[in-house]
Amino acid sequence: MERGWRWRHRGNAHVIADEVIERVRAAADIVQVLSEFVPLKRAGGDFRGPCPFHGGTNPNFSVSPKRGSYHCFVCHESGDVFSFVRKRLGLDWPSAVKMIGERVGIEVIDVPMRAQAPDPNAPNFEVLAAAAEWFQRQLTDEATGREARVYLQQRQLDQASWERFDLGFAPRDPQALRRYLHSLGADDARLVEAGLFVVREGETAPRPRFRGRLMFPILDELGRHVGFGGRALGDDTPKYLNSPESAVFQKRKTLYNLHTAKQAMRRMGRAIVVEGYLDVIRLVLAGVEDVVAPLGTALTDEQAQLLVRYAPEVFLLYDSDEAGQKATFRSGLELLAQKATVRVVTLPENEDPDTFVRDQGRAAMDRQLTLAIDLFDRQVQLLERLGWFADLRRRRLAIDKLLPTIRAARDPLTRDLYLARLADVSHLDKTTLSTEADAGAEQGRRRMPGGPPERASDEPMPEDFGGNDEAPLAPLPPPEGDRPAWKGRKKGKYGTGPEWKTTNIPPRPRRDEPVERALVRAMLADRGIAERVAERHPPSSFRHPPYAALFAALLEAPFHDDLEQIGDRLAPDALAALRELTDGSVEISVEASDIGLSLSKLDARVLEFRIDQIREMMRTATGAAHDELMKERLELDAEIRRLLPIRSPRAKPKG
Ligand code: UTP
Ligand code: MN
Repeated sequence: MERGWRWRHRGNAHVIADEVIERVRAAADIVQVLSEFVPLKRAGGDFRGPCPFHGGTNPNFSVSPKRGSYHCFVCHESGDVFSFVRKRLGLDWPSAVKMIGERVGIEVIDVPMRAQAPDPNAPNFEVLAAAAEWFQRQLTDEATGREARVYLQQRQLDQASWERFDLGFAPRDPQALRRYLHSLGADDARLVEAGLFVVREGETAPRPRFRGRLMFPILDELGRHVGFGGRALGDDTPKYLNSPESAVFQKRKTLYNLHTAKQAMRRMGRAIVVEGYLDVIRLVLAGVEDVVAPLGTALTDEQAQLLVRYAPEVFLLYDSDEAGQKATFRSGLELLAQKATVRVVTLPENEDPDTFVRDQGRAAMDRQLTLAIDLFDRQVQLLERLGWFADLRRRRLAIDKLLPTIRAARDPLTRDLYLARLADVSHLDKTTLSTEADAGAEQGRRRMPGGPPERASDEPMPEDFGGNDEAPLAPLPPPEGDRPAWKGRKKGKYGTGPEWKTTNIPPRPRRDEPVERALVRAMLADRGIAERVAERHPPSSFRHPPYAALFAALLEAPFHDDLEQIGDRLAPDALAALRELTDGSVEISVEASDIGLSLSKLDARVLEFRIDQIREMMRTATGAAHDELMKERLELDAEIRRLLPIRSPRAKPKG
């Protein structure tokens, strides 16, 4: 009673800024906090344990890290991380926020209501919002907006889509916007401070910063207007002109569309990063909502930090050009430093997300997302393709290029997986590589006393991959003539040495066939899928010979060959498989989720085979060697669980 009253009283008299509450909520790991009160075990994407509210003994209490909430199926208690500590510890609301805030390192100050000063930035937000609304009216104005509307039409953006993103047009008229904003009570100083106008040297009257441009309003995380991106309608330079840095607009901390994407990001546990405004818009229109763009090209550390507050997994979907690749790796390292899982999506050449989704649709985009590969794997893949692991000297250099990525990975398990992968590909000992990575980090710290332990930009960047013209680093011809890269590869993704050949894996037909069949079906529907699958699992790793042959044939065939022509070159059993799969020639439709699951199964079976090998070795190993093996086995088990959350019982190896 007493406590309730006090709480209500304080609740009325004190305020914690919404922004602070949201930051604390996003930073708090609900599973970690609740684990101190309830023994929780993972169950799929959620966690389960006995309910502390009704004192249950069965795991009826469910915690969802994705939604940031808990729920008991028996007593129906539910809530978020704040309501949990309030109820369990009898705290009032501000104390609950403060307690969680302390754990996540965010200072929570509750301000007495009366003392709360008005936000000094409010007039800037307001004048920018008023300008946004004015730009929109210019776009719809019959005469003024015609040129911009024609441009939008050319880019295949209809009225509904520009209304959804509040796009506008800044006319050439030097005075109209100024007059309008003056009429609302804003003075010239305000217009300049908000970044809408500039005063040139030797002039007194401010000029509009944006003239004859299509306007993209930029909102901050909380939905307040902070700036604009303005695109030239023709070939004017710069192509995009953004608002200048100001009290309300800091590009390093801003992500276009974060305000609307954050709900979807939290829901899906995923964030997609693209380069430009139009890429974001096109994806959202296609129904992919968890998309943001930085306002430059690569992510800054602040932006990476913002992203991981909403999603643990980030997909980098940059243009396929060299600049895009550079930005991908730079951004990737910032994200690894924030312990994100980083995946790279590679679009076909000369495509950006805008054109790709516009021309090929949502399903094709989903497939690309499904085929995304881990950042480190992508780097290894690029080096391997250029033959960097083919001779000793280059191998040393290749390792140097990959070490910064390992160093950037602050998550211990990720780091360990990367080290294992590097050991595999370089045929070097994992411990040696680990020492090497640590040594480099030391050097980095010594170079920058007092600075952050390591900044991605101080390291040799992986973006040098292939783009280097120094003779010793030039790409080698592919290992044997012009065989495709996958043909020269013998090892699976998680192999550990030369004895490790995917082709050695004994088939388990009942489990292997359906997976391979599903993937080959998908390849028949979309030949690009064959190439993407081959990046992770070459045809030689397929265990069912007809599917392996069909897969190889699809990869090798020139793009203009149709299935008939491909069929002509096949051996009888592969041809029979092709016939069977395309029976009735009905259009094959492929769900991205099916491809994803099939790929995960292929990943998992490589790991499973390795586990079998480890079991075998553990029979004879003793002491430290035994412990090492056990550790690796547990890691592999964890990795398999991650790949296949709902896992069918694994066949025991015989013997
Ligand atoms: P792009 O030039 O790749 O943009 O720059 P885009 O989205 O493909 O442009 P369209 O399709 O030709 O309209 C990507 C992002 O980099 C920033 C912008 O944020 C842009 O969206 N940029 C680009 C600038 O700030 N200034 C520029 O001059 C160019
Ligand atoms: Mn574009």
